[in-house]
Amino acid sequence: MLKLNRYSDALICVVDDEPSTLSFLQALLAEAGFVSVATARNSSDAVKLIQTGCPDLLLVDWHLGSEDSAEVIRQLRVTYPDEIIPVIVLTADLSPEAKHQALAAGASDFLNKPFDLSEVLLRLQNHLEIRRMHRMRARELELARLEILERLARAAEYRDDATGEHIVRVGRLSEQLGRILGLDEESLFRLRHAAPLHDVGKIGIPDAILRKPGALSAMEWEIMRQHTVIGARILEDCPYPVVQMAHQIALTHHERWDGRGYPQGLQAEQIPLWGRIVAVADAYDAMTSNRPYRDALRPEQALEIIRAERERQFDPLVVDAFLDPAMFTQLGEETDSFAT
Ligand SMILES: [Fe+2]
Repeated sequence: MLKLNRYSDALICVVDDEPSTLSFLQALLAEAGFVSVATARNSSDAVKLIQTGCPDLLLVDWHLGSEDSAEVIRQLRVTYPDEIIPVIVLTADLSPEAKHQALAAGASDFLNKPFDLSEVLLRLQNHLEIRRMHRMRARELELARLEILERLARAAEYRDDATGEHIVRVGRLSEQLGRILGLDEESLFRLRHAAPLHDVGKIGIPDAILRKPGALSAMEWEIMRQHTVIGARILEDCPYPVVQMAHQIALTHHERWDGRGYPQGLQAEQIPLWGRIVAVADAYDAMTSNRPYRDALRPEQALEIIRAERERQFDPLVVDAFLDPAMFTQLGEETDSFAT
């Protein structure tokens, strides 16, 4: 018998109202090497099953007694709109009408009862391979997108910090702040990748101002402040949530809780949470880093300044989170160099 161990971790859902068919398929799949096979005998149980976890392949009987198998397939497609999940319809009478209905509902393929064992396994293999390839490509694309974002941030950072380390640290600090504030994993992931782009707009600031060793004139400061607007322009109108977050951060990371920040003079919760988080992380990292015109502050000095700016420059809840003992202890060894 064909072994499909390569796909053994795939979750296969089998929906059939006949117990004999279910046990036959369960035995066949176990024999072929699958370890995760979930079964349901009616459409409502099948829908519940689908909602508890994304299957890698669905085998569904077309005649679920009086119930509607098409609804099971539709629910699968609605629940996981971005996934390519093969759906194989099991049927004894393959009338053209049944075929059309199943395909219209989102079926990918058919298997006739009584089953030809080799055909069942070969079709499973083909569909699982397509799913595996699709997932691999999707992951590669996602990684490429994140990589490009990071390199864009690095390109801007190289203009005033040759090491490019500041942006990485601001990403980690922002993520940890978000964790203490109770954000969900998805937001934390985005924050870590979006926060490093906060100063991407510096790419548009002339070197004479960006790299000026002395103090900036009022006019020069005005130009320097434009990095927020330039960054927002670089990142605007993007459909990807991580870039949308980066856009908000670039625009608002110099706004102040008391409304005296720039560029828009937003106040308190008018400032997106991401902007309020990165404002603290960015300020702390800037204060504790050496600059051509001053030495780094000690961490406790920087923390004191951040505490003093509670409800002035910074969101009081973000400051409280930053002063939480878990802020640095949980950050791990990678940040010890600048946290201690
Ligand atoms: Fe900035």
